[in-house]
Amino acid sequence: MNQDTYDIISLKDTSFTKNNVYTIVDKITRKAAIIDPACDMRQITDMISRTGIVLEQVLITHSHPDHIRRIGDLVYHYGCSVYISRTEADYYCFNCPNMMLFDDEEILAVGNTKITCLITPGHTIGSACFLLEDSLFTGDTVFIEGCGICIGAGASVVSMYQSFQKIKARVENDVKIYPAHTYNILPGQTFKSVKQNNVYFCLEEEQFVAFRMRKNQKNLFSFS
Ligand SMILES: [Fe+2]
Repeated sequence: MNQDTYDIISLKDTSFTKNNVYTIVDKITRKAAIIDPACDMRQITDMISRTGIVLEQVLITHSHPDHIRRIGDLVYHYGCSVYISRTEADYYCFNCPNMMLFDDEEILAVGNTKITCLITPGHTIGSACFLLEDSLFTGDTVFIEGCGICIGAGASVVSMYQSFQKIKARVENDVKIYPAHTYNILPGQTFKSVKQNNVYFCLEEEQFVAFRMRKNQKNLFSFS
């Protein structure tokens, strides 16, 4: 399944968190899944009426508030199913209408397009990435220039290191990386270039832990 068979529509949240909101559209059926719907509902409804897609699913990388903002509206207006990892929902007592749970390596279908769910804990206990043949949606796990913070209930910097190793072993060089937040570099960079330029892919466990948890980081959005 490559980008000959599906499209990616990107929306940018205009609130201070500036999330990237991606929609995967199966080209033949026009069925679609939106990932981490953070932006204004108006942006989503405009996109749906402009493109004529059939929004069936909401995929959640993790349950932080900026990633789940429009779930209620999307279920109400479009009857979407909402997919989140079982670990994430169980640990944080997350619940919503039409909730569906997935486990590691489970495969979801949007029309003819297959999406593999990879559980990648670290930022939260049940964070997930969504892998298509040539795209990886990484939520707050892998950023182009860094990785998500590992602070708070269920977070673990050692798990984050292990998730980076898992992604390294599982993802091909030419896969394009789509994080939930981007800073100075656009999403859609190849995994090969991310591995070369993102310091977290170059560190051994001890250094990774020390660098990610170093003191005096600027704020919640310190990603590098
Ligand atoms: Fe987050």
